[in-house]
Amino acid sequence: KNIAIFASGAGSNAKKIIDHLKGNPTIQVAAIVSNKPDAGVLKIAADENIPSYIIDKENFFRGDNYVKLMKDLRIDLIVLAGFLWKVPDNLVQAFPDKIINIHPALLPKYGGKGMYGHFVHEAVIAAKDPESGITIHFVNEKYDDGATILQEKCAITPDDTPDTLAKKVQALEHQWFPVIVERLLT
Ligand code: GRF
Repeated sequence: KNIAIFASGAGSNAKKIIDHLKGNPTIQVAAIVSNKPDAGVLKIAADENIPSYIIDKENFFRGDNYVKLMKDLRIDLIVLAGFLWKVPDNLVQAFPDKIINIHPALLPKYGGKGMYGHFVHEAVIAAKDPESGITIHFVNEKYDDGATILQEKCAITPDDTPDTLAKKVQALEHQWFPVIVERLLT
């Protein structure tokens, strides 16, 4: 089985998935795709000898280039690991229930365009919610809207800040995302 990881940032989730899958010879990370030429995830791709592709805005949202690329690479699962663009409809439709995303909050709250990273944790803290967590879900044509695959929670204490909450949530991401990726392909 082949997966493609799409990421825009540091790629800590991508790294955890790559390392976890080293223990499973039936699943390969066939591609890492990023919209940011300087993203840390591309350095991880280079270090791990994984082919990487830098998205050109023009052709990502126009034409079937990325659908063709994913088909040519025989991708079975597309994993969004901190990918900040919306996946074009033609790619969603070409890979029904084969694109998953991780969101650093308990959807449907704190989701949608622009709700990522610090903005999410600030909003949760500001709302004085007693808990936060992660949502791993299938991707459809709307932001953060597809069927939930897994939610894991962490408690928020009064002394928590967006930074300390981010660390708690990231620990859940790193613990669960690789497991879900493997489970979906086994
Ligand atoms: C994580 O917060 C994830 O929940 C969100 O984007 C971030 C990715 O971080 N989708 P990293 O690039 O994997 O470190």
